[in-house]
Amino acid sequence: MNLTLKIWRQKDAKSQGKIVDYPISGIEDDMSFLEMLDVLNEELINKGEEPVVFDHDCREGICGTCSLQINGQPHGPDRLITVCQLHMRSFKDGDTIFIEPFRAKAFPVIKDLMIDRSAFDRIQQAGGYISVNTSGNTVDANAIPIEKEKADDAFAAATCIGCGACVAACKNASAMLFTSAKVSQFALLPQGQVEATNRVLAMVNQMDEEGFGNCTNTGACEIECPKGISLENIARMNREYLKASLKG
Ligand code: SF4
Ligand code: FES
Repeated sequence: MNLTLKIWRQKDAKSQGKIVDYPISGIEDDMSFLEMLDVLNEELINKGEEPVVFDHDCREGICGTCSLQINGQPHGPDRLITVCQLHMRSFKDGDTIFIEPFRAKAFPVIKDLMIDRSAFDRIQQAGGYISVNTSGNTVDANAIPIEKEKADDAFAAATCIGCGACVAACKNASAMLFTSAKVSQFALLPQGQVEATNRVLAMVNQMDEEGFGNCTNTGACEIECPKGISLENIARMNREYLKASLKG
């Protein structure tokens, strides 16, 4: 395949960025999107030019770092996958592909396609944990009976990989889907009840402080989420928040 890549280049957080055109050839259907970018970077390095900076780590849909806006869509055209799981067979010879970083005030660009998602870490640190009794009388987690439906919902919420596609897909750059997944994975389980009141208040408060917007109710986040995190988690977080506010 011969393609034209239109890639966002930005020297650092303070510089102004711009789209730069890169023609590329010899791209195979079986290559992943990141392998295609590796080919481009090798060519740039061989020509003595600066390679394109992009985040990646596991390359198997687990770490959530490979977050790119491809032709205006977070993680590109396919559903329920990350960019590292996207293959070039989803494009055709002669295509022009726009590649940009996720756009949100709370996700500043570090360089080129790499953004700073530490706002998510701070939301998590505000309350995304549980107390564990390490006194010597610790109860085996598997000994606590939990309804199957609740266990399944908690597990589904816990599959959020913190990629930020929900924020990039939202007109308000809302982090409600991410935060609600992190709240829900504990709110559904008995182990999560000890800090439940403080957790939801602290995490929502941190989310607002980071500059994420409110939920638009359009559901774009759920559609673009590579892990299929459900909007039901946002409804659950709102209920938890109301309950905690009334208690507080
Ligand atoms: S909710 Fe989905 S889109 Fe948002 S950070 Fe988690 S995995 Fe990514
Ligand atoms: S590189 Fe880890 S999810 Fe894509």
